[in-house]
Amino acid sequence: MGKRKTAVVVLAAGKGTRMKSEMPKVLHPLAGRPMILYLLDTVASLAPERVVVVVGPEMHSLAQAVAPHDTVVQHQRLGTGHAVATTRDLLRGFEGDVLVLYGDTPLLSIATLEAMRAVLWRDPRTAVVVVGFRPRDPAEYGRLVTANDGSLVAVVEYRDASATQRAIGLCNAGVMAVKGEHLFGFLDRIGNDNAKGEYYLTDIVALAQSQGLRCAYVEGGEAEVFGINVRRDLARAEALVQERLRGAMLDAGVTLIDPATVHFCFDTHVGHDVIIHPYVVFGPGVRVGDGVEIRSFCHMERAMIGAGACIGPYARLRPEAVIGEGAHIGNFVEVKKATVEAGAKVNHLSYIGDGRVGAGANIGAGTIFCNYDGYAKSFTDVGAGAFIGSNSALVAPVAIGAGAIVGAGSVITKNVSDHALAVARGTQMEMPDWARLHRARKEAERKGK
Ligand code: UD1
Ligand code: MG
Repeated sequence: MGKRKTAVVVLAAGKGTRMKSEMPKVLHPLAGRPMILYLLDTVASLAPERVVVVVGPEMHSLAQAVAPHDTVVQHQRLGTGHAVATTRDLLRGFEGDVLVLYGDTPLLSIATLEAMRAVLWRDPRTAVVVVGFRPRDPAEYGRLVTANDGSLVAVVEYRDASATQRAIGLCNAGVMAVKGEHLFGFLDRIGNDNAKGEYYLTDIVALAQSQGLRCAYVEGGEAEVFGINVRRDLARAEALVQERLRGAMLDAGVTLIDPATVHFCFDTHVGHDVIIHPYVVFGPGVRVGDGVEIRSFCHMERAMIGAGACIGPYARLRPEAVIGEGAHIGNFVEVKKATVEAGAKVNHLSYIGDGRVGAGANIGAGTIFCNYDGYAKSFTDVGAGAFIGSNSALVAPVAIGAGAIVGAGSVITKNVSDHALAVARGTQMEMPDWARLHRARKEAERKGK
């Protein structure tokens, strides 16, 4: 077959009105990543010569998200055929195949794209290949009208279809491969005399036929080609992406006790022999070392967890939390922009923000790093092997020396030297027998009334 060049045009100019969102539809995330980037990743494995994304006016955030790929602005949304035509200048002189994809169909597989390319080149008369699928509910998808020899005769949009055509179960997924030498000639000739008054890309199928060229289709699975139009579709796509991520984790040697309850991010990185208990959520940027155990109900984002550490249950790791090897982070502990070094323990009810807990240190229950004075954040440093008694407040900026002990209930506002004991709380006093005498007095008063 030889190496044919490929250009990819991704249509994403639609506002996605039905999403009821301020954000362009194709930027809505799946597993924490804009949906369109999944498609662009898939496309990258075809090593295309050119990729052009058609965006709507004022979609700067979209142009940024897809950079360094070229974007072209479709100023008026006159239909999918018109949208492809806006790439004419960028694709001028390009010789090869053009794949037209829709940004809101992000889960398309590489196998389907390869199959299209293969069918496009099997027969020199073939000019267009589309992806068909048989959805459970064909709803308002365009229908594929086929001939007895299996070739594709036309794509008829639902609104323009007759009752017989609407009864066809084979639908247009919207993905199309066109031989480049024909594409813009076809686009010049499509009109907008149809139910929507739009320039339909799908009309090029009938045009090709009329010029004695052949059109064909390949079938894709519904799970890869369904389009995301409403939030229900987005939720359905998220479920599929999560399913893939969980499967990949299991295959890579991660134990998920109840996979369906663990939510991953597209970039979650987990080492070997890690056990993840039910109900755990990974936000973006989490790296988990080998042999870590993450117990139930933890939430993590932009955090690094060293080998052999134990997290949770009920722990929250916020951005820039770095947990050292073998460290323990227990229930109702929040760590933010702080390093908990190897073997240190923060087991209960604590806030560790903007600081360091030295190796092997022990942070007692209810310890708070008071990092914020209402204006600025300051640093708390706890030295290696230090012991912080329960219910202590360490008021930053402050440093506790290595091996030092802080008495329970202390409010520490000054630095503590290495190996010293610091206690900063009201001194305990005792009045012998006072309680008994007090009760006796009260009893006497009552009887005297
Ligand atoms: C389209 C197909 C239909 C197919 C369905 C699959 C046409 C005419 N119809 O219909 O056969 O079954 O997709 O989901 O192609 N877009 C632009 N500029 C435009 C119009 C659309 O960039 O002027 C983009 C949209 O952002 C979207 C894609 O093209 O990503 C599809 O447009 P949409 O209006 O959703 O087409 P459908 O009516 O769903
Ligand atoms: Mg659509």
